[in-house]
Amino acid sequence: MFDSNTHTIRRAVVIGSGTMGGGIAAHFANAGVPAYLLDVSSAVANASLERMKKHKPPAFFTAATAELVTAGGLEEHEAWIGEGDWIVEAIVEDLDVKRQLVTRIDRLRKKWSIVSSNTSGIPIAKIAAHASDDFKQHFLGTHFFNPPRYMKLLEVIPTPATHAEVTKFVTEFAEGRLGKSVVVCKDTPNFIANRLASVGGAMLVDYALANGYTVEETDVIAGPLTGRPKTAAFRLQDLVGLDVASAVASNLYPLIEHDQSREILRSQRVEELRKSQVGNGRLGDKTSQGFYRKDGKEILSLDLETGQYRPRREPDIESIAAGLKIRDLSHRLRFVLEQKDRAGAMARHIVYNALGYAARRVPEISDDLVTIDRAVRWGFSHDMGPFETWDALGVRETADAMEADGVNVAPWVREMIAAGNSTFYRNGTVYDPVTMGYAAVPRDPKAIDLAALKTAGGVVRENKGASLVDLGDGVLCLEFHTKMNTLDGEIRTMIIESVGELESGHWKALVIGNDGGDFCVGANLAGGLLAGVVEPVLREMQDALMKIRFASKPVVAAPFGRTLGGGAEVALAAARIVAASETYMGLVEVGVGLIPGAGGCKEMIRRVVSPVMRQTPAVDPLPLVQNVLQTIATAKVSSSAEDARSIGFLTAADRVVMNRDHLLFEAKNEALEMAAEGYVPPARDKNCYAAGRDVRAGLRAAIHILQQGGYASEYDAFITGKVAHILCGGPITTGQWVDEQHLLDLEREVFVELCAQPKTTERIQHMLSTGKPLRN
Ligand code: NAI
Repeated sequence: MFDSNTHTIRRAVVIGSGTMGGGIAAHFANAGVPAYLLDVSSAVANASLERMKKHKPPAFFTAATAELVTAGGLEEHEAWIGEGDWIVEAIVEDLDVKRQLVTRIDRLRKKWSIVSSNTSGIPIAKIAAHASDDFKQHFLGTHFFNPPRYMKLLEVIPTPATHAEVTKFVTEFAEGRLGKSVVVCKDTPNFIANRLASVGGAMLVDYALANGYTVEETDVIAGPLTGRPKTAAFRLQDLVGLDVASAVASNLYPLIEHDQSREILRSQRVEELRKSQVGNGRLGDKTSQGFYRKDGKEILSLDLETGQYRPRREPDIESIAAGLKIRDLSHRLRFVLEQKDRAGAMARHIVYNALGYAARRVPEISDDLVTIDRAVRWGFSHDMGPFETWDALGVRETADAMEADGVNVAPWVREMIAAGNSTFYRNGTVYDPVTMGYAAVPRDPKAIDLAALKTAGGVVRENKGASLVDLGDGVLCLEFHTKMNTLDGEIRTMIIESVGELESGHWKALVIGNDGGDFCVGANLAGGLLAGVVEPVLREMQDALMKIRFASKPVVAAPFGRTLGGGAEVALAAARIVAASETYMGLVEVGVGLIPGAGGCKEMIRRVVSPVMRQTPAVDPLPLVQNVLQTIATAKVSSSAEDARSIGFLTAADRVVMNRDHLLFEAKNEALEMAAEGYVPPARDKNCYAAGRDVRAGLRAAIHILQQGGYASEYDAFITGKVAHILCGGPITTGQWVDEQHLLDLEREVFVELCAQPKTTERIQHMLSTGKPLRN
């Protein structure tokens, strides 16, 4: 019997090395699982692997990760299938071809191995219809989204024949090791996310064409204005490829005869547009033109009336700009839906139809509402799923408004309302349309919900910029919550208070982390760190981070997403880093004419240069220091947490967590383990190697070459020279060990000096007004 507790994936086999197969194999490698990547021939598979290595955004965590993937042709290497503990099929979307492959896998696979299909929508049971019973028991659908590394959702689709233990294993492996968020789906056409998106997308495009909306108007109204990503409608089609989107829609139509909304998939208007676009080779990004086309630096838009490209036209509807200013989504949606203009009309059409269609597909595609909400949020990055949205708008009022607009409301929703229930979700429970009662919302035991802890009275201290939250078991969490989590005076104060609380109370450890979009994008240039007198403010920040560094109890930083400038310095100050695999860390201060001034330079010397110098004192420090200099001077940002490790931000002791939702839980556990092992803070001794003047002279030569080669402006070179000065220990003549404060004092001195430079002011102003660095 297959046992989910003892099965392991020592090797994966991915068959079909295209967009999806290549990305899936890469992601197995990211998770540390060696993978064979097979295709019709070695040439095709190898070419795909090479393409994956250059893919943007990167498919692999680091260049070295790619070594875990071995490409080959099915003819020469079909025996590889027998080595796989998990075999994923990601070949063309064609039932007959997939069935032939299944026969082959059935013949070659080893006992217990799992086989899954990455089809977009072909019923899973049909694919395995002719296979052996043992095959069927170990077979299921695993529908990854594109690109597999980055998209959170994985739909797992067992058939009636799939062994429950296999489904359990795949779900747990995908969540824990691959970092995906799983929804288990029924084996219905296009499963959940694509089913809703195929019909919803067709409704939207049809409406836009019938009522003369531009692509820009559609993409903003069906995008950020209604709580959806910027890729919204037409941009999304360009991304997916019109050929793929059309195939998914036309495959779906014959499979859902019972679905009264299916006629929209054959909308004359939509079909004509698609035909003309495909005929003109405008498939989207893959043919460099679709509904948008890049023309040099300019992005042109398709005029839906003339079929010609034209310069981008900002939507000229007043309520759009006003709506976008409303930060809270429920308020924004209510505002938009009330508008009497074209934005309001389209928003009502999109939102009411999305809610109505999702409800009408219950229980066909799922018995439970949470699964549907999650599939939409995780698969398409909507801020809220349909039932969450409906709750936010008011269930009864919205149902009435929907009907007034001609949208059918599912009878079970009317029954729910008639029984006196006014929301789908209620105090941690969710309405169950089958039993007509409420049941607990299933929770991931490894997902710590900071907002829920705070509502439940877990706030120990707080101010406008940050909170200190009780995570339970004696662990505190310092949470930033400014806009984009930029560092300001409030956060600085809370850092100091947090360490104070940690030291004084019965607490065991502190975690620094949050549930925002990014860990921290750096200092608030507009008003935070730099407001007022620079020197004392910076000194206070340095001191605050030194309190973290030398706290008597463990402090664990839990970075994820953008962790830049001061944000990186906060993470580097902690005794340990437990980072989400998607962490983009960098000391990017040079971009605004500054240097890392709160310990960033010091930490790079301590982490990268000093350990080598301690182990092999005779080694030439120049290349080591030059490497650090380059990291800072080029404002290098890691493309993953593992890449951050190769740059030197993370040490061997720091950990990487694949599932972002598990980050705080894992950081908390790490902190507790450190405490249990008898944590001892670092000694305040001379632990930083300052290389001295000779090495600095060597660095100057390198900077000069960079400038001559046009890689650095004169001012870049000036700042880089200052960084070299700090890294080498300032006035020190020969290499020697110095304490951390020595380097911090140098950082502060240089930082203050740079703040007074007009070119630094220009860089800061430019960043504030455009969001981009200026190289003046
Ligand atoms: P693709 O066209 O990029 O790649 C398919 C690969 O399979 C090609 O390299 C082809 O040479 C190979 N292949 C075809 N027949 C084969 C056979 N008999 N044996 C071995 N290799 C064979 O296609 P893509 O986009 O990667 O799609 C693969 C599967 O994933 C399809 O079932 C598709 O519906 C599904 N899917 C696609 C998504 C997307 O966004 N492109 C998203 C989710 C699922």
